Amino acid sequence: MSDHELRVSKIRNGTVIDHVEGGQALNVLAILGIDGSEGLGVSIGMNVPSDRLGRKDVVKVEDRELSQSEVDVLSLIAPEATINIIREFEVVEKNRVTRPETVVGVLSCPNRNCITNADEPVATRFDVIDAGVRCDYCSTVLRSEIATHIDV
Ligand code: CTP
Ligand code: ZN
Repeated sequence: MSDHELRVSKIRNGTVIDHVEGGQALNVLAILGIDGSEGLGVSIGMNVPSDRLGRKDVVKVEDRELSQSEVDVLSLIAPEATINIIREFEVVEKNRVTRPETVVGVLSCPNRNCITNADEPVATRFDVIDAGVRCDYCSTVLRSEIATHIDV
């Protein structure tokens, strides 16, 4: 990457979520449960030029790594994302996200009548489909609203 394309500073330690679909950066933060009150250093590049995607978003979170369930949910809104772990300014690990077949116990179902919203606790279970995710119990499909139904 040439320097004139570097819109957001490099970080010393933390995680860079790169190649996020343009416009999804704030949803990435929502999935990670980050709103700024944690005191973490967070930088965001939105609609940055990208060879591969045309335009992309980049999210850099200092001093924080991601759990597998966070990465699983990220893959649903940013299927092309790369997760880079940074230590002492070096990229020490780079992984592409992969879409899981199912997401268990992470998303809540928006259907009030769904058994997962009843008093008896039943873990949510969604199948990952091209259009988004589908509740295993009531077949409700979640698309772009995924980020606002995180239950972790
Ligand atoms: N990065 C960062 N701080 C560092 C090192 C890297 O913020 N200390 C960021 C870069 O700006 C880039 C991402 O982490 O957004 C991945 O870095 P790197 O692998 O060096 O970049 P590329 O080779 O362009 O990555 P890719 O091949 O995945 O496109
Ligand atoms: Zn449901």
